[in-house]
Amino acid sequence: MATTTDPTVVTTIAGPPRPGEAGLGDELFPTAGNTGYDVADYDIALNWDPTAKHLDGHETISATATQALTSFDLDLLGLDVSEIRIDDAPALFQRFDTKLIISPTRPIAAGAKFTTTVAYAGSPTVGPAAGGWVDWGTYVAVAGEPASPNWHPVNEHPSDKATYTVRLTVPTGTTAVANGELAGQSTADGLTTSTYRMDQPMASYLATILIGNFTVVEGRTTTSGVKVRHVIENSLVEPGTQLFAPTSDIIEVFERLFGPYPFKTYGAALIPATLGFAIETQTLSVFSGDFADGLNDGAVAHELAHQWFGDAVSLTRWHDTWLNEGFATYAEALWDESQDPKFDFHAWIARTAADAGGPDAPSPARPKGPDSIFDPAIYKRGALVLHALRLAVGDANFFQILKSWVDRFGGENATTADFIALSKEVSVQDLDQLFQDWLFADQMPASLDGVDLTKTGG
Ligand code: ARG
Ligand code: ZN
Repeated sequence: MATTTDPTVVTTIAGPPRPGEAGLGDELFPTAGNTGYDVADYDIALNWDPTAKHLDGHETISATATQALTSFDLDLLGLDVSEIRIDDAPALFQRFDTKLIISPTRPIAAGAKFTTTVAYAGSPTVGPAAGGWVDWGTYVAVAGEPASPNWHPVNEHPSDKATYTVRLTVPTGTTAVANGELAGQSTADGLTTSTYRMDQPMASYLATILIGNFTVVEGRTTTSGVKVRHVIENSLVEPGTQLFAPTSDIIEVFERLFGPYPFKTYGAALIPATLGFAIETQTLSVFSGDFADGLNDGAVAHELAHQWFGDAVSLTRWHDTWLNEGFATYAEALWDESQDPKFDFHAWIARTAADAGGPDAPSPARPKGPDSIFDPAIYKRGALVLHALRLAVGDANFFQILKSWVDRFGGENATTADFIALSKEVSVQDLDQLFQDWLFADQMPASLDGVDLTKTGG
């Protein structure tokens, strides 16, 4: 939900019943989400017919009204809705652009818990702004950021985290996987239903589904008990197994640096499509085929670090993607340092500053628009913010800040202001100038740890 960082605390607004307003007020994605309710759980049953390319969905959304509601909306792109019920009574609905607008027969009281069931069907819309579900012919993969309204009705904003049950029915012999743990499997009439449960809060864009010819490859359970399994498309089992081999070792290093791995299971999926990116879908990061052609423990470490930074501690607003990407990028260097105590941070600073865009690399905290949230400066200058902080406060304080960040905000949402406040609190230092110079200023500072950054190429 948008008005508190603690998802267990639902803030309700008094007043006469009125519509929940479209858009949670995100500056970069103004229409995403809805202000009138807070989702606790999505239970999504999907039947996918890979021959007919037809998706049949039945979803139950458990939510709390944060105000008295005459109507509210869910984000949904394409697909035909046949029936909606609220607390088992039929409800009226309309479609407008990416919104599914629902009107209960009588207003929902502020603070009331209610369930919405939606029956829907069709072929997911794909395309640049469509969302995560893409049918690649021989398999389906959900991977996008932000993305999910093209396969289920959703309050599409990371500030409204919820638990998920996903029940996937596909022809027997086809593999179907979603986030979290396999909670049950049954077969009837040539169809197999696999039920996955993600019982810790998850931001909507972190939901993933893979359906096709995949092999589940077991990894080594970590010393702390994290179960590791990878989901690799059959044609890529060999390179995928190699690519993901360092996973358990990286989890163990990160647990030492960031605190306990936030979930019960981890693994990565590898699909043939060349998307040009990997994504930290919760408990099951998805890597595209570009990563299959060599070893890349940096990318494996990056997506793993996101499980702490992005997945456990999630964005309150899309503006703050540096809290995800800067941290995951810095974690790549921390993994390298763990493997090589003589890791050359001066060379890393020069390289990272150049990759950020050189002296003109813009502030990582001020993306110019929705298309800028994954710009190089967000990742690279974002990582330099953390290295500058580490040098200023010392290793003990720095790693205490990272651990406290996950400890305090894990399962919830946080902002840049929260991070700055926590850094000052833990270090007992006035860090305003440091954050001004590294995080907010239009230009990159001239040097870091004696490395001249005025000459690094853009
Ligand atoms: N969060 C992803 C990462 O780990 C980036 C996803 C980029 N998404 C995209 N559609 N380009 O870096
Ligand atoms: Zn990332």
